[in-house]
Amino acid sequence: MSTVLDNIHGTTGSAKSLADRDREFVARPTTRIPVAVTGGDGAYLVDADGRRLLDLTSGWNVANTGWNHPRVVEAVVRQARQMSFSPPWCTHDGRSSVAERLSDLLGGGYKALCGATGSEAVEAALKVARRATGRQAIVGFTEAYHGGTLGSMQAGGVPQLHAVDVPSTEFHRYAPIPDALRSNGVDYAAALREVLASGPAPAAILLEPIFTNPGVIHGDAQFYAAVQQAARDVGALIIMDEVGTGFGRTGHAFGFQHWGMDPDIVVVAKALTSGAVPMAGALMKEDLSSAVAGPGFSSTFGWVPLACAAAHASLDVISDEDLVARAATLGQRGLDRLSSLVAAYPSVAAIRGKGLEMGIEFTDESGKPFSRPPMENLTSRLLRRGIFAEPSSYTSTLLLMPPLVISDEDWARALDAIEEEIADMTRKGEFQ
Ligand SMILES: Cc1ncc(COP(=O)(O)O)c(C=O)c1O
Repeated sequence: MSTVLDNIHGTTGSAKSLADRDREFVARPTTRIPVAVTGGDGAYLVDADGRRLLDLTSGWNVANTGWNHPRVVEAVVRQARQMSFSPPWCTHDGRSSVAERLSDLLGGGYKALCGATGSEAVEAALKVARRATGRQAIVGFTEAYHGGTLGSMQAGGVPQLHAVDVPSTEFHRYAPIPDALRSNGVDYAAALREVLASGPAPAAILLEPIFTNPGVIHGDAQFYAAVQQAARDVGALIIMDEVGTGFGRTGHAFGFQHWGMDPDIVVVAKALTSGAVPMAGALMKEDLSSAVAGPGFSSTFGWVPLACAAAHASLDVISDEDLVARAATLGQRGLDRLSSLVAAYPSVAAIRGKGLEMGIEFTDESGKPFSRPPMENLTSRLLRRGIFAEPSSYTSTLLLMPPLVISDEDWARALDAIEEEIADMTRKGEFQ
């Protein structure tokens, strides 16, 4: 049976044979493209056939400083020669100095709980919130993804992740995501209040400042002010998941800063180390740290020296190369360039985002998301032009999340190519 991968790579080549091996030996083989990567630099990935692909994914918001930034690589190599791993109960300079730096980035007054993956850090945040408030319930948002471990799946609102692995319980409730295109007059702040009042008082409201996985969906400033107020009114903490939106991605150091929010716990991972070494943290306000007691919080691979070296180097690069401002500038340029697409093409329903976290949402004539084929068609067409992009779940949205170091020329070229492919698909009636 021919697949999208065959369509892209043909039936020969290293990438194709690696895909075959993947299907044979890996329980969850890649269904995405390109199948096999061997390297990368800056905004480019290199696949197993030596093709250079302009990357609009950053590996899902990981490679904010670009692939294999030389300063990050060098810091990791230097640290590996000295010490990669230390006993988790021993401190080391990297751990406390990264914690201090992250607290400073948040304006001061935060302490770090150390982990290796985003899901782990989300779970740590949930534990802290439950212990600190003495409550069990968590209110999340529909379609919001917060990880693949049982607790993070249950706290997130992706329906497909619920049915079998995690049963529904009165302790997990979900408010509607503030989706402007499908609001039908719904007042999302009022809907959240209703959900908060509809069961046991919650320990926390869990949210992303911009919901990435559903298709870069966010509310307006009033919505986030209402979230903040509603949390205060019911005595719930705010857990802000910045796993995908942190470290300059949205044109601020952290996404919640667009909305002037004051979260109690901020969860970070992914771009913290540019992906060089797994590292994640739940950064909590100091007064919550007394809830962190006992063995439930240990993490063998949490903030090992190698990861901390990668984090320091990544934070240095973000600061020295002014990548937060760069994301804001390029993002605005992208919105300006693409805004005319909504009027020009019937299938383009919305252009949205902040900084280099952008999405182009496509819908059919009844306003529904497209099934996979048109989106696969679009991403395959782009890949044939050497541009690697991914669609979202829930809505059919093309995600534009390139490394923040993408050049002006490459960004302009990608945006032009996207419009050309949309125009051609429209002409040929391929959006259906
Ligand atoms: C918003 C968000 N939170 C949490 C996670 C889970 O992170 P990890 O895959 O490192 O466990 C992800 C992963 O994509 C994410 O996008």
